[in-house]
Amino acid sequence: MKTMIQNIPKAELHLHIEGTLEPDLMLELGRRNDILLPYDSIEEIEAAYDFSDLQSFLDIYYAGMKVLHTEQDYFDLTMAYLRKVKAQNVRHVEIFFDPQAHTSRGIPFSRVIGGIDRALKEAGSTMGISSGLILCFLRHLSAADAMKTLELALEYRELLIGVGLDSSESGHPPEKFTEVFARAREHGLKTVAHAGEEGPPAYIRGAIESLKVSRIDHGVRCLEDGALVRMLGAMQIPLTVCPLSNVRLRVFNQMKDHNLKQMLNAGLCVTLNSDDPAYFGGYLVENYRAAQQALDLSRQDIYQLARNSFRASFLGDKDKERLLGELDRFWEEQTD
Ligand code: ADE
Ligand code: ZN
Repeated sequence: MKTMIQNIPKAELHLHIEGTLEPDLMLELGRRNDILLPYDSIEEIEAAYDFSDLQSFLDIYYAGMKVLHTEQDYFDLTMAYLRKVKAQNVRHVEIFFDPQAHTSRGIPFSRVIGGIDRALKEAGSTMGISSGLILCFLRHLSAADAMKTLELALEYRELLIGVGLDSSESGHPPEKFTEVFARAREHGLKTVAHAGEEGPPAYIRGAIESLKVSRIDHGVRCLEDGALVRMLGAMQIPLTVCPLSNVRLRVFNQMKDHNLKQMLNAGLCVTLNSDDPAYFGGYLVENYRAAQQALDLSRQDIYQLARNSFRASFLGDKDKERLLGELDRFWEEQTD
């Protein structure tokens, strides 16, 4: 099982690139850019990663990313992530970034997207990893700020596949961003939103009905609403679940309590993802392994999760079929 999880072709669809900033790179970029960090060592950084909820994590996450300044910093951050997932046989990635957390510090949008995009293109040609980039709006900021960010981003329209919604969920319902998302859709951008991570099932409905999202990020609280589960199942709206994140942010007390298996049993299109791997103790393979062990997932469950990851991606039909074919050849070669 361990080897199968490592080797199975898979996609990652819920990954914040700023959440891949490992403590060693944080310290190095802090030195490189002369930024004073509240930490002196990797041990001190790791000790600070004891989260009680989403907000306690976000405070540390936004503070950590202040070391990112140059185009090269964004390139190095993205390349480090891509090298890690290349070694985990991740074949396709759809990456979030939070431009407002950088432009609010005076970093030009062009520099952020330029560094990330350069790394994604290099990984496409040298590592065979395909990718898409999704701009996330910070939902604790105003809709006007999000709209301003979208206008900036439209200059780089061809570098994006979609827009998303992240940051503090409670008290920030999706409807706040209806107009921004409508404008993004007018430009052919796909839409996704974090919903039902800490927030109620009504936020999942709101994201579908008002933001017209193609996927829900997290969505684990959907099981509290039977009618919603039936709708998600009937429409096969993918839910990008992040098991290690959910345990570290205390959405579930321990992995054994995670409702992933119930979601699969309910016929939902669930995918596994790592969210902010540098903060939550694992990349994609570690998420599959932790969930498999605690929930006693079968090989068929793992195959289904990998299959869902390609089905739920924003790849075009031809690329989707090619990767699903690769997955099926892998699956047929499995002996036990
Ligand atoms: N930003 C980075 N990770 C996030 C998460 N898990 N939920 C909401 N916003 C985030
Ligand atoms: Zn997330």
